[in-house]
Amino acid sequence: MASLLALFYAFLLLATMNAVAGDLTEFKVGDTGGWREPDANSTSMYSQWAAKNRFQVGDSLNFEYKEDSVLVVEKWGYHHCNTSNPISAFNNGKTVIKLDKPGPIYFISGAPDHCKNGQRLVVDVLTVHPTPPSIAVPPQSYNPTDSFAPSPLPSSGVSVAVAAIPFLMALTATLVTLVSGSP
Ligand SMILES: *[C@@H]1O[C@H](CO)[C@@H](O)[C@H](O)[C@H]1NC(C)=O
Ligand SMILES: *[C@@H]1O[C@H](CO)[C@@H](O)[C@H](O)[C@H]1NC(C)=O
Repeated sequence: MASLLALFYAFLLLATMNAVAGDLTEFKVGDTGGWREPDANSTSMYSQWAAKNRFQVGDSLNFEYKEDSVLVVEKWGYHHCNTSNPISAFNNGKTVIKLDKPGPIYFISGAPDHCKNGQRLVVDVLTVHPTPPSIAVPPQSYNPTDSFAPSPLPSSGVSVAVAAIPFLMALTATLVTLVSGSP
């Protein structure tokens, strides 16, 4: 019976950890097109791609490319397409970069003229806030429907997981009582 309880608890714990891990995303840069020099009619494809995604600390970017390269550069290098002083450089065709700190991170192609033709990317990495209790109460009279709209919390997965912990503890306590209470 005790081992059954342990199994049950392990299962719940695993489910909780999965909820947290499920929050981490690997983005394929450029989606199906990958990392390449844009066509002349779509030079802003990477800023459009970045604008439709939300990047958080812990997520990663997957660059897939052929006869090209990925350079991580400073803001200056991004704006001037200057490839001479990269922070890091990759050219093996598949580069996964972990977004390990908040703030902007800049990428350009190292191939001649590719950056100038739009093969550059900046992503703004957001911090994950595990517990965002909202203290500020918006004025109720302004727009009553607003207060019923679900707020888009940046880290719902983590919040749910954290919220589940007291529940798990209560559940375990109940089970322990049940088990020890049985003859
Ligand atoms: C952009 O140009 C390419 C050829 O250079 C063409 O195949 C493609 O259909 C064009 N896309 C749009 C949206 O006009
Ligand atoms: C790139 O920047 C370096 C200094 O970091 C400079 O010497 C070089 O001329 C620049 N290249 C171009 C093409 O602007």
